[in-house]
Amino acid sequence: MQSLGVLGVGELTEKVVKGLRNSGYAGQINLSPRNQQRALALGSQYGCEVMVSNQAVVDRSEVLMLGVRPDAVERLSEEVAMGPGKTLISLVAGMQIAELSRCFHGASVVRVMLSCAAEINRTTVVIYPANAAVQQCLSALGTVIVLADESAFETATVAACMNGWFYFWLHELQQWFVDQGLPEGQARKLLLSNLEDCLSSAKHDLKTPLASMGSAIATPGTFTAKGLEMLEKQNFSAPWTHAFDAVLKDLTADSKQR
Ligand SMILES: NC(=O)c1ccc[n+]([C@@H]2O[C@H](COP(=O)([O-])OP(=O)(O)OC[C@H]3O[C@@H](n4cnc5c(N)ncnc54)[C@H](OP(=O)(O)O)[C@@H]3O)[C@@H](O)[C@H]2O)c1
Repeated sequence: MQSLGVLGVGELTEKVVKGLRNSGYAGQINLSPRNQQRALALGSQYGCEVMVSNQAVVDRSEVLMLGVRPDAVERLSEEVAMGPGKTLISLVAGMQIAELSRCFHGASVVRVMLSCAAEINRTTVVIYPANAAVQQCLSALGTVIVLADESAFETATVAACMNGWFYFWLHELQQWFVDQGLPEGQARKLLLSNLEDCLSSAKHDLKTPLASMGSAIATPGTFTAKGLEMLEKQNFSAPWTHAFDAVLKDLTADSKQR
């Protein structure tokens, strides 16, 4: 990928740009001018050029990254003529390829879902449809998962939301340890390190089902088994699956309402 244009310099695209530069991407990066202070700061720190208009971004870039919120896409599309030969990477949650192609006529659209961990090159990068150049470039940001169809992409978007919910859940868990008298930093370390233990084992052994790995720890009579029994009595995953269902329903019902 030789030149990348960013349409919508915001929370997510800023982190993508930082992650790309941190990984050594040396190509031209052109930024849209809106939110000029933010764009100028990003441009000066990470070697990007702030263009005079969105059209200038399009004209000067081979690949465009769409990073505006869903309700801003239509208006932005009216400002620019994309033309053939451009690749449009859309980060917009819930907006499908048919709609994006209608808005940006002629562009070849690739949908991508990633998280703020792009900044530290540790994000999950979900891509649909497969596109070798996009995959190659964005693999610098983390772990690439290419999906076979668009409905799977919508389902994967729920996982991106889950990533955000984890912070709140972890905060609540951390608070319990703090309430028992542990210093906040130590509680955080204890929590994240135990989570990492679990993730490392689960990633190390991809063949054993996750529930079997848990059962090997929560054997009868153990403290782990006692706590698990209480969690199961309260159907502890139900709030999560209800939230998954609600978000997936919204994602698939109306692609513009986000
Ligand atoms: N944040 C995440 O963690 C995350 C994760 C997955 C997917 N996404 C997706 O990423 C997209 C961006 O999310 P975000 O959180 O980064 O939003 P954001 O911080 O609000 O960034 C969007 C940026 O686009 C700008 N913008 C709006 N209309 C524009 C136009 N016509 N031309 C140029 N720039 C324009 C906005 O400017 P104003 O502020 O002036 O309107 C803002 O700077 C969304 O579609 C979301 O679904 C985000």
